[in-house]
Amino acid sequence: MKKWKLSMFVMVFLLMLGVMTACNSGSSGSSDDSSGDSGSENTEAEGSEGSSEEVTITYARGKDATGATDAIIKAFEKEHPNINVELREMPTDSGKQHDAYVTAFNAESSEIDVLDIDVVWPAEFAQAGYVLPLDRFIKKDNVNLDMYNEGALSAAQFKGKQWAMPKFIDAGMLFYRTDMVEEPPKTWDELISMASNLQGQNGTEFGYLMQAKQYEGLVCNAIEFIAAYGGAIVNEKGEVVVNSPDTIQGLKKLVEVATSDFVPQNITTFTEVESHTSFIEGESPFIRNWPYQFSLANDEEQSEIVGKVGVAPLPAGDEGSAAALGGWMTAISAFSENKQAAWEFVKFMTGKEGQKIDAIKGSHAPTIPELYEDEEIISATPFFGEEGFVQALNAAVSRPVVPNYQEVSEIIQIHVSKAINGDVTVEEAVKSMETELKEALK
Ligand code: GLC
Repeated sequence: MKKWKLSMFVMVFLLMLGVMTACNSGSSGSSDDSSGDSGSENTEAEGSEGSSEEVTITYARGKDATGATDAIIKAFEKEHPNINVELREMPTDSGKQHDAYVTAFNAESSEIDVLDIDVVWPAEFAQAGYVLPLDRFIKKDNVNLDMYNEGALSAAQFKGKQWAMPKFIDAGMLFYRTDMVEEPPKTWDELISMASNLQGQNGTEFGYLMQAKQYEGLVCNAIEFIAAYGGAIVNEKGEVVVNSPDTIQGLKKLVEVATSDFVPQNITTFTEVESHTSFIEGESPFIRNWPYQFSLANDEEQSEIVGKVGVAPLPAGDEGSAAALGGWMTAISAFSENKQAAWEFVKFMTGKEGQKIDAIKGSHAPTIPELYEDEEIISATPFFGEEGFVQALNAAVSRPVVPNYQEVSEIIQIHVSKAINGDVTVEEAVKSMETELKEALK
């Protein structure tokens, strides 16, 4: 447990350091310097006077299937009887969610006060002036930033300011049915053979579930295969290195899995929701998903496989196992008319109390290290203290972190999808990615 904790934080720190460097370097070319800074200095002060007047704030996030969000809101409202939190469910598909925010904030809409942002968005949202810098609130309330994992904290920094508070860390993992699988597969080839043997047993329909729709989740699945075989999309220097034999090998394995008989025929329509639903309905012995899958699979109200779920690192390719690094943070809209109340909610949700509820009810991995010593959390989500989790986190690979990440992501999504659909070969896909990514990142 001690060793696990240490390695996890070292890993996340190192990865996020990369994120931070990329964010900061992205800022040098920014032409819209003032929008995120001076504009918000004023707005930040507005409405910051404490008030007992009743206020309703709107908190936007993708649908939370685990019920953790409702529990957090309830606990917050109990502590702050004058603040009501209205939950606005955004599309679960992270890309669609991103676009919905961009549309709302470009129209300077004040409808959303608080929002969760994906780990790949802060540079863009800060630069565009969509979210408020939180530094003054943090200072005024003496929020101890040292209690946070440094990497997760720095992922929400841009131009020396804190634009969001880290909420949870995600890493892709393999979940399996303990009533069907004794030893989880160590390699992708083992997974392929086990998935095809187990398909149809114990009432299952499939052997493996993943996210293969053309969207952000496909990028995560793809980088896991690519990294497991030693490939990469960009290197540490930000150079496009996607056209390599290793990347080709990794993507060929992805295509082999995604076009196999043991995944649902319509796997190219599967996001997290379709895949987790099928898994909790008992339709597959294996699924690749994020940590929340554990709590969902053990939710008696929704799941048919309660108590039958194991967690392991994703299978390895030639170069070992690799997990995509994900996660979410919480920000305040620059257009919010209830900034102080919004901050109270952000502070609570991303603080110890909120993260504890999220870890227990939603099996979301906290960004506050000391919560990994919390007995209630470990007893609800034992894999936070297990070696498999350590390994998955240790292997987590970040996506290219650049202010125009959406463009980069779309390029990857389109060409990986084409390869899965058989419209192009994997070699052709990486060649197109190379050309287009070089253009997008130059
Ligand atoms: C999870 C991750 C997020 C990622 C998304 C892709 O929500 O936390 O970082 O972008 O999945 O679907």
